Amino acid sequence: MKTAIIYHSEHHGNTKKILDAIVRQGDVTLIEASSNQHTDLSEYDLIGFASGNYYSKFHDSVLQYAEKNLPSGKKVFLIYTYGAKEPRLDTIKQITDLKGAQMMGTYGCLGFDTFGPFKLVGGIAKGRPNEEDIAGAIKFFMDISKI
Ligand SMILES: Cc1cc2nc3c(=O)[nH]c(=O)nc-3n(C[C@H](O)[C@H](O)[C@H](O)COP(=O)(O)O)c2cc1C
Repeated sequence: MKTAIIYHSEHHGNTKKILDAIVRQGDVTLIEASSNQHTDLSEYDLIGFASGNYYSKFHDSVLQYAEKNLPSGKKVFLIYTYGAKEPRLDTIKQITDLKGAQMMGTYGCLGFDTFGPFKLVGGIAKGRPNEEDIAGAIKFFMDISKI
C-alpha cells in the first residue's frame, strides 16, 4: 500500500511529529503542502491530509493542494493536532467529497500551543503530542492501511 501524506506543520512541528512516526510504519511519502513537489498523486493507493488547527481549520496550503492535486476516487484520511479545540473538517471534506474520495477515517490529538495569549502562560497542551498520542496515530494508520 503506497501512501502519500500532504501536510502543513508550522507552529511547533506537532503534526510532523505524528507523521514522522507513521512514516516509519511502511511505504509512506510526506509532502509539504507548500513545496509543490510530487504533484502527481495517481500512483498512491492511500492519501492523507494533515495539518495543525490554524484559526479553526486546516491550513490553506493543504486545502489548496487537495483541491488542485487530489485525483478522483482515492482512499483518503485526515490527521490533525490542535491546542484546545478540534478544527472544522467541513472544507477539507467538501473537497475530498467533490473528488469522489473514500474517507477512511480521521485522527486528531492535542499539540503544544503558544499562539497569541497562550505564550504568556507558557503555552497549553504542553508535552503533546505524547507517546500515547503517537501510539494512537500509528494504530489508526495501521488499521486503515489494512482495509
Ligand atoms: C496561527 C495559529 C492559529 C491557531 N489557531 C488555533 C485554533 O483556532 N484552535 C486551536 O485549538 N488551536 C489553534 N492553534 C494551535 C495549533 O493548532 C496547535 O499548536 C497545533 O498542534 C499546531 O500544529 P503544528 O505544530 O503542526 O503547526 C493555532 C496556532 C497558530 C500558530
